[in-house]
Amino acid sequence: MHVGTSIQATTKDQLYAELAREAGALLSGEHDLVANAANFAALVWQHLPRISWCGFYFLQSDGDLLVGPFQGKPACVRIAIGRGVCGTAAETRTSQVVADVNEFPGHIACDPASRSEIVVPLLWQDGSLLGVWDVDSAEQGRFDDVDKAGMELLCRVFLGSLGS
Ligand code: SME
Repeated sequence: MHVGTSIQATTKDQLYAELAREAGALLSGEHDLVANAANFAALVWQHLPRISWCGFYFLQSDGDLLVGPFQGKPACVRIAIGRGVCGTAAETRTSQVVADVNEFPGHIACDPASRSEIVVPLLWQDGSLLGVWDVDSAEQGRFDDVDKAGMELLCRVFLGSLGS
């Protein structure tokens, strides 16, 4: 399998567009949550520069977010809704772009080297929450509005792959 080897983007917009195309191809034909989440995290990890962690937290029946497939160092296992960047994205159902995690009240430092972070809520079409997609960087201010739009596009491709 050679998925992802054809990505040759020159701009960030282009990189996300190509990643979205590759993710669509990689995940097509499979609807399993864990399988598609694992391959999605691996694809982003392979192609997105200057990131230190990427992965999923999925909402559990007890109301917590539980870590799912990811790439990078071992991470915090459970996060309560409303706590940290992930819990805030889940509670507010809006993407969180944090230029400096030290300035974010309640940030959960799984990796002390993390300096900036982006978290996108994963919402089904009926508005219910599946979980969040979280990407960290050791670089301050790594993520901007282009990353936010790009990550949201990627998350739509991921959710679409799961069927309804
Ligand atoms: N920093 C996150 C916790 C998850 S890790 O970054 C993998 C937060 O504050 O929610």
